[in-house]
Amino acid sequence: MSHEARIFIGEDQQIIRSDPLQRVVIFVSMAGNTLGSHLRLTTFGESHGNSIGGIIDGMPAGVEIDTEAVAFELSRRKPGQSKLTTARRESDQVEWLSGLWQGKTTGSPLAFRIANKDARPQDYDMMQDVYRPGHADRTYQEKYGIRDPRGGGRSSARETANWVVAGTIARHLLPSELKCIAYVDQVGTIHAPTLSTPDATEIEAHPVRCPHEATAQKMQDLIERTKKKGDSVGGAIRCVVTAAPAGLGEPVFGKLPARLGAALFSLNAVKGVEFGSGFQAASMFGSTHNDTYDAKGEPTSNHAGGSLGGLSTGTPIEFRVAFKPTSTIGKSQQTIDLSGQVVQLEAKGRHDPCVVPRAVPIVEALTLFTLADLYLISKTDRL
Ligand SMILES: Cc1cc2nc3c(=O)[nH]c(=O)nc-3n(C[C@H](O)[C@H](O)[C@H](O)COP(=O)(O)O)c2cc1C
Repeated sequence: MSHEARIFIGEDQQIIRSDPLQRVVIFVSMAGNTLGSHLRLTTFGESHGNSIGGIIDGMPAGVEIDTEAVAFELSRRKPGQSKLTTARRESDQVEWLSGLWQGKTTGSPLAFRIANKDARPQDYDMMQDVYRPGHADRTYQEKYGIRDPRGGGRSSARETANWVVAGTIARHLLPSELKCIAYVDQVGTIHAPTLSTPDATEIEAHPVRCPHEATAQKMQDLIERTKKKGDSVGGAIRCVVTAAPAGLGEPVFGKLPARLGAALFSLNAVKGVEFGSGFQAASMFGSTHNDTYDAKGEPTSNHAGGSLGGLSTGTPIEFRVAFKPTSTIGKSQQTIDLSGQVVQLEAKGRHDPCVVPRAVPIVEALTLFTLADLYLISKTDRL
């Protein structure tokens, strides 16, 4: 049964979608492009379209912006940075369109655009009529009745370049002593030792972005072996935020882990986010899980992961983010085409064999943006 209906809006005939029983006629738009409440990022763009970009609304006036820092963070995220990432090459030059005057924010919306320079939509011709298993092709097609097949359109992680811009801008609002450092903690079954104070220079020293050299090498070997087989592998990122002010977050629906979790679950391929002891808490006793206080009132452990009752405690905010293996792989897999016929797919094109090395700056950016939003809220509360 077709799920399409036709209506007239003014002079124009529009095709709109209805539910499977044709009872309710629904307009379907691709909404949900805004992150944040006081500080808001609204984005646009598709992977192989003309450009991507966004508007950051709510930036206070008079903040001196370090555009070099934005360029640096984008270079950490960009494709083609090592043989462990997709071979697509994007220069990721940010064009500032509004909201800046003589290097400072004016308080008006900060708008930016990043051109897609290395788009190769023809790579996706073979996948235009076929649903990639594990990707968003089928859900997009079924919800909207139309989709941009070039690189997955809006479902592509190309979008995350916008988030890195916004996260770096948001960082300007946070106290300078706050540090937000993420690193690759796991690739496949290879785990890094848990580090309480990860070092940014050591993380960046290896293309995998794991600061433990011997583990990083094993992770790299695994990613390279996997890529040669036309396959992909999952992984996890750990993030530690130090010197975050206490009291960020709201006690009921705007809890700090809920706000951070909502941002991090917006990131492509994320399958899990755990704070502090996370899922291990389920197998512990209260006597060992409680972070007891010493005579100076300092917690002796950090199972809480930096928040209690939804509010930041002032101890490090610590969490892990699990990523699934990249869905587009060169190995032959059974799937269906748009007409429902069973077909075999051996995907072509340029893909990340493991997304975690490139996702490190994106996790940091989403964290910084969310913390800056909560920080602005906490300051506004006190006015
Ligand atoms: C940094 C990064 C790079 C990615 N690169 C690819 C890629 O090259 N090919 C691919 O199929 N998926 C890639 N993904 C994952 C897809 O965008 C994602 O799996 C897809 O949109 C479906 O969404 P979901 O996995 O969140 O359900 C990447 C994700 C991240 C975070």
